[in-house]
Amino acid sequence: MLMGPGPSDVDDAVLSAMARPTLGHLDPDFLGIMDEIRAMLRAVFRTENELTMPMSGTGSAGMETCMANLLEPGDRVLVGVNGVFGTRMAEVARRCGAEVVECEGEWGRAFTADQLRAASGGGRFDLVAVVHAETSTGVLQPIPEIRALADELGALLLIDCVTSLAGHAVEIDGWGVDAAYSGTQKCLSCPPGLSPVTFSARAVEKMRAREAPVQSWYLDLSLIQGYWGEERSYHHTAPINMLYGIHEALRLILEEGLEARFERHARNAAALREGLAALGLEVRVPADERLNSLTTVAIPDGVDDGATRRFLLEHYGLEIGGGLGPMKGNTWRIGLMGTGSTERNVALCLAGLRAALG
Ligand SMILES: Cc1ncc(COP(=O)(O)O)c(C=O)c1O
Repeated sequence: MLMGPGPSDVDDAVLSAMARPTLGHLDPDFLGIMDEIRAMLRAVFRTENELTMPMSGTGSAGMETCMANLLEPGDRVLVGVNGVFGTRMAEVARRCGAEVVECEGEWGRAFTADQLRAASGGGRFDLVAVVHAETSTGVLQPIPEIRALADELGALLLIDCVTSLAGHAVEIDGWGVDAAYSGTQKCLSCPPGLSPVTFSARAVEKMRAREAPVQSWYLDLSLIQGYWGEERSYHHTAPINMLYGIHEALRLILEEGLEARFERHARNAAALREGLAALGLEVRVPADERLNSLTTVAIPDGVDDGATRRFLLEHYGLEIGGGLGPMKGNTWRIGLMGTGSTERNVALCLAGLRAALG
């Protein structure tokens, strides 16, 4: 059972879909599958954005796609850094030649707009970037107030929803998000390998007005759209069987219904937190800033992190995650993502932890 920070367990139906015969990447039937994937992704992102598609590559490829296409050398970017993935966003933006202002936040807490405003030092920015669901800390970042701040700064808003999409509400149009990326291996319950992205009309306009070409040929959306758009011209060979996988995963998500899925994630996360408290374990992150897809737990003094996780793996066939950065060695990360967010998994994990601690 994969109950770490991702990858998460994959539905059998998705694995079966991936085992179907490989079609040609320009086969008319496959082009129909691509159109359906784009339509279903729009529904899951809750957007009408035309430019919505899965990039070939993991979540980090989605991050690079957004930065590389939206930024030109000298652009000003404000990045919220309160965990590993905010740190990575700042690094990627710097490598695109942007002038990056980092707002250093506390690991394990969400940002307020005031914190980001103060760090910005005023002036105009091209992009504000925050992580909606910080997998390294278990924090859910509220987005509407960050949108208002981006408006004040004259900036586009980019969010990382790798660990939230299809587990927490992600309202691309409702919140006015200009660009977002995710990954297949978390709440979408697909193996790692694709990164869904979406861009607003304003973001597309910024890309059209570029003076410098996108530094990455592979991630250049102006070229990739030739394949995913009307032209259907070859850019790179699409990962056909991965795309069968996401097609089936998205179908299952919409069959369950997004609201029902969010409610299931919330219910099982609440049960996990209650059970952890009963074991005397402390859940990190204040209650109103917690992710339902990933719970961070303080490792009690005197308990060996590695030995506990090995015990769970050997005796319960269960994987949970260790901490990253300042949380390494003192925090466990327990994922309840997508297909894996079940009462049974909550019970198994609590039983395993009880036995391990005993
Ligand atoms: C919030 C967040 N952003 C980005 C990434 C990077 O995704 P990947 O490891 O699939 O490249 C991850 C991976 O765990 C993540 O959790």
